[in-house]
Amino acid sequence: MKFFVDTAEISEIKELAASGLVDGVTTNPSLIAKSGRDFKKTIAEICEIVPGPVSAEVAATDTEGMLAEARELAKIAKNVTIKVPLTLDGLKACKALSSDGLMVNVTLCFNANQALLAAKAGATFVSPFVGRLDDIGEDGMLLIREIRQIYDNYQNLTTDILAASIRTVNHVREAALIGADVATVPPSILKALVKHPLTDKGLETFMADWAKTGQKIV
Ligand code: G3P
Repeated sequence: MKFFVDTAEISEIKELAASGLVDGVTTNPSLIAKSGRDFKKTIAEICEIVPGPVSAEVAATDTEGMLAEARELAKIAKNVTIKVPLTLDGLKACKALSSDGLMVNVTLCFNANQALLAAKAGATFVSPFVGRLDDIGEDGMLLIREIRQIYDNYQNLTTDILAASIRTVNHVREAALIGADVATVPPSILKALVKHPLTDKGLETFMADWAKTGQKIV
């Protein structure tokens, strides 16, 4: 399973990339707005820090506009992944861009049929939004499960499932159990994954006992 970090904050990306745990980055217009920084410059900086796929989302809603923006974004770096919305225009853009050899992330996926269409359109990634489905009383993880089953039914569907809108460490665990290919997680969740109180307690005991031995390893 790959981990992408879901942020446009350069300092957080640098910190997490240094851990060796980050395989890619996802951004969206809301995250760019939150950063308060220039979109294209931010994407360029992220692409230099992380060699894996870096999602940059188009702002146009019509196919021609999306394609024009995608061509501009693709010039930034080889690892830019064009993010398009799961609309008919977005799927048309996805088909054209993937046929040109670009990586495409089809975002805002909320049901299995949409994911099926994204795969048919040649998406590199489809982004089902787990947390937002949970927010409205639906089961986000059920969607991941359904997409996994559908993609596994057909060898020609090679799109990676990128579990998005991840809000908890349990979302990560469940997505991994189901077999999502990627989880894009906020930095706080990525950091929380390593934590367990018994790890902290156990380490404290080991260190105290080691000190009693009076020994040194180096
Ligand atoms: O990758 C999509 C993700 O950023 C959406 O997350 O928490 O805004 O639903 P959220």
